[in-house]
Amino acid sequence: MSESIDPQHFRHVLGHFPTGVAAVTSCDDTGAPVGMTVGSFVSVSLSPPLVAFLPGKQSRTSAQILQNGRFCINVLGAHQESASRAFATGGDRKFDGLDWTLSSSDLPRLDSAVAWIECTVDAVHDAGDHDIVVGRVTSLDAAAPSLPLLFFQGGYGRFSPLSLAAAGEPDLIEHLKLVDLARPVMEEVAAANDVECLASSTVGDEIVLLATAGTPAGGRTYSRVGQRLPHIPPLGTALVAWSEKATKAWMARAQASSSLCWEHDPRQLVDRVRARGWSVATWSDTLRKLESSVDETTVRGLTPHGRQAIRHLVGQLGSEHEPDDLHDPSRRYSIRSVSVPVFDARNHVVMQLTVDGLPPDAGPADVGRYVTHLKNAAQRVSHALPSTEQVPPAATVERNRR
Ligand SMILES: Cc1cc2nc3c(=O)[nH]c(=O)nc-3n(C[C@H](O)[C@H](O)[C@H](O)COP(=O)(O)O)c2cc1C
Repeated sequence: MSESIDPQHFRHVLGHFPTGVAAVTSCDDTGAPVGMTVGSFVSVSLSPPLVAFLPGKQSRTSAQILQNGRFCINVLGAHQESASRAFATGGDRKFDGLDWTLSSSDLPRLDSAVAWIECTVDAVHDAGDHDIVVGRVTSLDAAAPSLPLLFFQGGYGRFSPLSLAAAGEPDLIEHLKLVDLARPVMEEVAAANDVECLASSTVGDEIVLLATAGTPAGGRTYSRVGQRLPHIPPLGTALVAWSEKATKAWMARAQASSSLCWEHDPRQLVDRVRARGWSVATWSDTLRKLESSVDETTVRGLTPHGRQAIRHLVGQLGSEHEPDDLHDPSRRYSIRSVSVPVFDARNHVVMQLTVDGLPPDAGPADVGRYVTHLKNAAQRVSHALPSTEQVPPAATVERNRR
């Protein structure tokens, strides 16, 4: 750095670059836990697996970490601001009041960190008043479903997505082009109704959550974008209700799964949704269990056992998941979400837009309002689609569209 650069100006300008926040932990030569907050954690190499952080040469904790030769990077969540403050102070009481455990490799791990990465020190490079400590990764996991803590211009914050789209997995590329057109409209729906707006579609035999806008529903501190659910009744009715072919495939998947425990004909749901032009989902214990199982896969990945458990829960949802009548004054409805189809120029349903995170007392009148907003949004997305859109249809329209 040129001597002519004012340190304060340097800090000010560099403060415009936001970073994540990690606590680097290890044990000193008495076995006591030590740690320091860093914003300089970075992924370096996949093969071999290397990461790095940049401690100041004055850092006491850094000296202890280098002496130990091993360390653990704890990626802090948005809820761990106080842990970040504790690890950014000097002294020996940084772990006071924090929940942590000693891992099998004798490194302190913070219990509710977003992810942990255990390393051995691979190299230490000199870099002005800091070192570049390169660590070889020995084990790692993404532990808790949570948005990360961020640091920007001297203050803490959290990632607050306007809208998020799923990563470009090969089977999603065409759908994601479509989602790019839908996102501004989704952001408007989310902001106007103070809800989360979701875009999802059928990919193979699954429903994939392609994008979300607005504050995540259910107090979540993480995004569900990319989640996949089996597309079997009663889920995703609006994605099949305008196509006989898609309806048949949807019902056949339910029969094949043998987990469907209700006696009703799923076609009733299809007729109901097509007749009113929108779909509604109500809360149940099964839906809550299903949600937490699916959320778990967001973090841990989908195991064959997890897939089976999820299919089973979907089959248990029951036809009341999509109630026929929202106007019965003797019933209290616990409405979870409302969805409408988005049609392309050929009248194929290419995805559905959903509002989620409705207030607990939302009633039929509110549903009417959401439906109006969603239909308007769906129409605007339809008009924005190029007439030659090559997105694989979620369903082929062989019935009259409402
Ligand atoms: C958000 C944030 C990021 C920080 N990043 C770094 C960093 O990358 N490198 C560093 O040396 N210090 C960093 N610090 C400061 C250290 O955490 C702090 O100086 C150190 O932990 C002091 O304790 P020690 O002497 O026991 O190491 C950061 C502090 C905060 C609040």
